[in-house]
Amino acid sequence: MGLHYGFHINRFLTETTGSILGMVGARQTIAIQKQYLKDSKHKIPLLFMTDVIHGYRTIFPSPLGLACSWSPELIEQTAAVAAKEASVSGVHLTFSPMADLVRDCRWGRVVESTGEDPYLNSLYASAFVRGYQGDDVSAPYKIASCVKHFAGYGAAESGKDYNTTDISEYQLRNFYFPAFKAAIDSGCKMVMPGFNALNGIPCTANPWLIQDILREEWKFTDPVITDCTATYELTAHGLCASNKEAAQAAINTGMDIEMVSTTFFEEGENLAAEGKVSMQTIDAAVERILRLKDELGLFENPYKDADPVAEEKIHLCKEHRALARESAAKSVVLLKNEHHVLPLHKNEKIALIGPYADNKNLLDIWKCQGKEEECVTLLEGLRDRIQVFYAEGCALEENPAISYEEVHTVDRDTSCDAACLNSYDAAVSDCDKIILALGEPASWSGEAGSRAHITLPKKQLELLKRLSASGKPVITVIFSGRPLELSEAAAASTALLQAWLPGTEGGNGIADVLTGTSLPEGRLTISFPRTVGQLPLYYNALPTGRPKKSDSITERFSSGYIDELNSPLYPFGYGLTYTTFQYSGIRLSDKVIKEGGTIEAAITLTNTGTFPGTETVQLYLRDLAGAYSRPVKMLKGFQKVFLSPGESRTVDFTISAEMLQYDIPGHGMTLEPGDFQLFIGVDSTTANLAEFTLVKTRES
Ligand code: NOJ
Repeated sequence: MGLHYGFHINRFLTETTGSILGMVGARQTIAIQKQYLKDSKHKIPLLFMTDVIHGYRTIFPSPLGLACSWSPELIEQTAAVAAKEASVSGVHLTFSPMADLVRDCRWGRVVESTGEDPYLNSLYASAFVRGYQGDDVSAPYKIASCVKHFAGYGAAESGKDYNTTDISEYQLRNFYFPAFKAAIDSGCKMVMPGFNALNGIPCTANPWLIQDILREEWKFTDPVITDCTATYELTAHGLCASNKEAAQAAINTGMDIEMVSTTFFEEGENLAAEGKVSMQTIDAAVERILRLKDELGLFENPYKDADPVAEEKIHLCKEHRALARESAAKSVVLLKNEHHVLPLHKNEKIALIGPYADNKNLLDIWKCQGKEEECVTLLEGLRDRIQVFYAEGCALEENPAISYEEVHTVDRDTSCDAACLNSYDAAVSDCDKIILALGEPASWSGEAGSRAHITLPKKQLELLKRLSASGKPVITVIFSGRPLELSEAAAASTALLQAWLPGTEGGNGIADVLTGTSLPEGRLTISFPRTVGQLPLYYNALPTGRPKKSDSITERFSSGYIDELNSPLYPFGYGLTYTTFQYSGIRLSDKVIKEGGTIEAAITLTNTGTFPGTETVQLYLRDLAGAYSRPVKMLKGFQKVFLSPGESRTVDFTISAEMLQYDIPGHGMTLEPGDFQLFIGVDSTTANLAEFTLVKTRES
């Protein structure tokens, strides 16, 4: 049983519990372990597990922000730092990575995901696992990882958290599963099923998912833990009539540890006595848990790295802050930059305005041991580097604990107080440029943080429009856990930056990009909708029989809307730099690729602007005909290329026949001969295309 924190060591604990959740701190974990080992009969060390999601004390940008770095290496480094800080505080295992693919940004947990692409999600899931675990989880400063929420949790209907999911096996295998498989192939030590029902059966008690796929097909031999109270929830789902039935279903499906709820403890013995759960099943679960404790080295050293002196030295140390700053800068996505208003110049006078200008609310709800007071605000990041005038003005941050009435009156319908808006006039009249820091509070995303209106609070938009009418260039910086509807904000801004929830060093990282100390290189890993009505929205969609010839609303009887374009406001892969790049046409080494073979695709990339910059060159493929309809584009590779102004470079990709396979239910990974399109370009909308044919040399 996994017990949540907030307990005292007592007989109940020593006789029933094998792991502790959410309890951290070297002194506390050492004390509990010591007492437990003294009192318990079997002397099997406790496993301390908690949610270290994007940092422990030094908090990095939330995963969706980190993902926009397009840098698995960076994610691996941040996970290694998180593991180091957590391990000295007595943590043995983290409930990370979250490998859920997300297509609907109403879902609050989009902030914890790495986006909408199975290829990138897989690279990131592996990177997190490598960072936490290294090659050996027993090594100093390493912790075990638990991939979650298996599977399809991110496809919650209508974006409502915990909602049901209905996903075909074809979609599961080709979109939702790959990142989980990648984490497992990288050695991830635990799996947590989702809260959701998948195709009618909750994941916690879904034998096809846990036994057929996870255990049989993927050969996963480590423990599976339920999500928090998920066993209790089997009755609410309507799968089980009682907690006893729920325990039976969960244990027999293969849940080894129950999180927070206590049905295994309460009903396990009876179920075994009645033959409803076999001793073989219980032994197998126990063996998996013991093996994990052994692999962590807990039988030799039950405290592992827990050390109060090391905590002092390691937590939030200079190197960790430096990595947090670098990752905040790399996760910023420049969405608009008219008239080269950015980067800022040293001699310019800047008015800094808005609810996030000097706000330490830069961590999300998984801030772990991160502290708001240790965060660097945007004002603090900018202050010593340029002439910045902070106009505190009116408080615009809406209280997240709003009532339904407030959402629909105060937030959406009440105009901003005129006196409050006037208070900015003096600051604005004396400046060259305005930086306006807007967004949604961190608590508006995350678990159970779904929104039906993914807009900026109305007062903020009003302020933006008002400042924009002043004629001064407005650089809008958006702090949010999710993509918001930004059409109006983009139109009213000269420049627009998506800063996500940037973590402890957020203000410094964003200031680095604004001032050009760091060059913007972030790219979106999730599509930004024009309006919530377009959701779910993702670039790698299947084609329809009636695709639009162009992105317009007037073409009737083709797939789309009569009142909105199909295209996102900002597509997957999008992000500007301070320079411009030109791509030549694609050169292929061969027009034919044979089974088992490869071809080369090359382009020439030139920096045609006046700034140096890093371009993220993206490779997409499309399979034109097959047993299943295939996505209109699929990311299959990317390279980051740094070029000085005027510099050119050849960028090449190797296309292997293996990259052309896909998972056909009942057949496994399959290679289908035929024609393919290959795209190399700036983002998922690129039309820079070449074609080739796959031929099969032998029948499989
Ligand atoms: C519930 C969340 O769904 C899961 O992601 C988390 O790891 C557990 N609670 C434990 O905090």
